[in-house]
Amino acid sequence: MKHIPVLLDSVMRALGDVRDKTIIDATFGAGGYSRAFLGAGARVVAFDRDPNVVADADALHREYGDRFVFLPCPFSGIAGLSDVYDAIVFDLGISSMQIDIAARGFSFRGDGPLDMRMSARGDTAADFIQTASVDELADILRRYGDVRHAGALARKIKDAAPQTTFELRDLVANPRDVAPVFQALRIAVNDEMGELTRALDAVPARLGVGGKCICVTFHSIEDRIVKNTFRAWTTAPGDPRIPSGATPEFTLVRTVTPTAAEVASNPRARSAHMRGVIKSY
Ligand SMILES: C[S@@+](CC[C@H](N)C(=O)[O-])C[C@H]1O[C@@H](n2cnc3c(N)ncnc32)[C@H](O)[C@@H]1O
Repeated sequence: MKHIPVLLDSVMRALGDVRDKTIIDATFGAGGYSRAFLGAGARVVAFDRDPNVVADADALHREYGDRFVFLPCPFSGIAGLSDVYDAIVFDLGISSMQIDIAARGFSFRGDGPLDMRMSARGDTAADFIQTASVDELADILRRYGDVRHAGALARKIKDAAPQTTFELRDLVANPRDVAPVFQALRIAVNDEMGELTRALDAVPARLGVGGKCICVTFHSIEDRIVKNTFRAWTTAPGDPRIPSGATPEFTLVRTVTPTAAEVASNPRARSAHMRGVIKSY
């Protein structure tokens, strides 16, 4: 299925006039956001750790030349940049292409190896299950999937050591728990929360005055991290970087969720939230 960008109109509205601005697209994916930023006159530096997107990124580079730079690495690499940017945009989670290719192991709807890696590097989900203790596995199922009876299920998964998506799916007794179990493993295999936290920590230093950080989230765990981080940046008391009596360094952009029409035409938008902040000094 073609990847349809989620909340792109809201992101463009939040960014305002981007002509001649330089934007970091932290999650290139199918390039829907990058293409819109470039089309509106911006320069784009894009990250993605999935090697499968490189061909699309190369095509965009051929079209837009030096206005588009692609960095094939995790977006926590933002911390290693030295320039200051006008906007940093995250469209989190996985793309339709990643879900649709059964061989990548993200989906319980197709049978494939239990892989789930966004990059082609590191431990697969099957390796992860083998290496983690029952307690660690249970903790991940609870924390990232809100799975009930996580201890018993973790024991069952450890004992069975599933190697394919269907083997894992068939171990989960309650069909309602299948999607949360897959989500929890995917988050752990890709260290998604660690990546997000490290990248957000780097954002304030990489934005100029008036610079914006916009995040589109897809589940409550990543949304909570973004919400709490933005709240800390926009609230003077309790933020150690802000001297007492000073105004907060950032102001909040109104949170947006998709319209019923967007959800109807793109079910992936179902649980999306767009949150943003503007750097005020
Ligand atoms: C929802 S898709 C982005 C779609 C994109 N906005 C578009 O319009 O086509 C998320 C993408 O972010 C990438 N991604 C997720 N976490 C990442 C990370 N920590 N570092 C780099 N890329 C990441 C995934 O590989 C995936 O391609």
